[in-house]
Amino acid sequence: MTHSDHRPRIWVSRPLFDDILDRLREHFDVEVEDDDREWTRQEMAEKLADKAGAILGVADPVDASVLAHTPLLRAIANRGVGYNNLDLAALSAAGVVATNTPGVLDETVADFAWALMLATARRVTEAERYLRAGEWKGMSFHILLGGDVHGRTLGILGMGRIGQAIARRAAGFRMPVIYHNRSRLDGAIEQDCKARYVDRDTLLGEADFLVLTVPMTAETRHIVGAAELARMKRDAFLINIARGGVVDDAALVAALSEKRIAGAGLDVFEREPAVPPAMLALDNVVLTPHIASASLATRRAMAGMAVDNLIAALGYGPDAGRPPNAINADSSLARAG
Ligand code: DGY
Repeated sequence: MTHSDHRPRIWVSRPLFDDILDRLREHFDVEVEDDDREWTRQEMAEKLADKAGAILGVADPVDASVLAHTPLLRAIANRGVGYNNLDLAALSAAGVVATNTPGVLDETVADFAWALMLATARRVTEAERYLRAGEWKGMSFHILLGGDVHGRTLGILGMGRIGQAIARRAAGFRMPVIYHNRSRLDGAIEQDCKARYVDRDTLLGEADFLVLTVPMTAETRHIVGAAELARMKRDAFLINIARGGVVDDAALVAALSEKRIAGAGLDVFEREPAVPPAMLALDNVVLTPHIASASLATRRAMAGMAVDNLIAALGYGPDAGRPPNAINADSSLARAG
């Protein structure tokens, strides 16, 4: 038997910083994919069939149909905070530990929410397209008139760490902040964020910028659809940095086409990487390819966390057996050893 026959095998489903992966190579045989691509469940099952662990992107699906073919699998480390790609109950039932990367991306994602708010209201990407197309013939007083950001009401749906980081930035823009969340935050956090709790309808009706930061779950699917868009102000902007699927994209395309809201800034889509063609044709929407957490420092920190979680979940390193960011603690490492 060669040395490598003894080492657990790891699959990394998409390219990741090679120097960070070296930390995995100290303990495991590591197979890394060279391309970013979407994986079907069948392909996931094939790739994971002989693996003890994996680092996955947040769109790589794992459910019971995959786990039925992965007898050696003991740990999955998502390299992202969201984990709607994972069926946690099925993972726990199979004794597979799952982990994510909370906390480390909050401020970077909050920066990006503001980038989308500013770009959308001030028509930044539309203006650049106009300039690059050679349409700018001279200073005009009337071109590309946008909406103001400062002083308007910021509404946040989902007030976890990222929502709070977005809210704290509003003071410099002198914007009142309202929020709605499954449960109301405690007074000290509300004070720190200068945010006022309101019910969902008030949020929809009063926000000039409605920013979505809810996780994707069965309850939040299409949490903003035709009815919610109809409650928003005609000069309001919708910003989605959460997950595709929390917004009904078809209803949003209709609202944007008919100018029932002023615009939208979207980093996520229901059927990523596909974007509805009708949306691509609209000028009152700023579209980005799921990059809210994509600063170099943050993506490196996320990769490092995922690697540390996997090493710990598989019984190595300083946290052996106690991965810092387990999301299905009840799996109790059933397959460990
Ligand atoms: C996350 O972390 O869930 C982001 O959506 C992708 O990095």
